[in-house]
Amino acid sequence: MERLDKILSNLGYGSRKELKGIIKKGNVKIDGVIVKDNGKIVDAEKSIIKINGEQIFYREFIYLIMNKPDGVISATRDSREETVIDLLHPDHQAFDPFPVGRLDKDTVGLLLLTNDGELNHKLIAPKWHVDKVYFARIDKKIPDSAVEDFEKGITIDDGYLCKPAKLEIMSATEDGSEIKLTIQEGKFHQVKRMFEAIDTQVTYLQRIEFGGLTLDSELEEGEYRELTDEELAILKSI
Ligand code: URA
Repeated sequence: MERLDKILSNLGYGSRKELKGIIKKGNVKIDGVIVKDNGKIVDAEKSIIKINGEQIFYREFIYLIMNKPDGVISATRDSREETVIDLLHPDHQAFDPFPVGRLDKDTVGLLLLTNDGELNHKLIAPKWHVDKVYFARIDKKIPDSAVEDFEKGITIDDGYLCKPAKLEIMSATEDGSEIKLTIQEGKFHQVKRMFEAIDTQVTYLQRIEFGGLTLDSELEEGEYRELTDEELAILKSI
């Protein structure tokens, strides 16, 4: 149950002020009856709401998958830096989505955005052990022994013992290595700090999987789309 003007503004039909005018003019019908009270409390899931004759498709939540580009921060608003929310169309911004967890400014790849607080909590709470898979380039040759070290648990700079992580070394030469790392935690700069703990530096970091979802190769960096019903079902089954 929500105010009529709030429902319509959330769906991108205009600001609350603009909608007040539209509603007052008699352009909005609820279950076939013109409603002129912009503050009318409506159950949008049960009522048929039409604006200028067009029936609205109501939904409370949105779920977006983005290929986050370099140089953009995973926050909702910032006075100086461009945020992932700035990359969204106003129709999607109207839902007030936020990023599910954070990627560093220079990390690229899979980032979910939603306004569903409950699902967000489930995806970032440590107890649900949600897999996050990263592809990374490392500045040095990673020794094979690192696989076992990561499996046992790496101790990072502040003394924290990381949970077991699955390290896959895709290539390793004196000039650098390419790896895949699966972790279930999300400590600040975690992947970078895990590699620092073995005296190496991450030079490129990309998240390629999150909670059973895979980065869509159709999405260019900076692009996003809504999750499919199947993808949402995967997340909700966690
Ligand atoms: N680990 C990092 O170090 N950075 C990220 O953005 C994500 C995981």
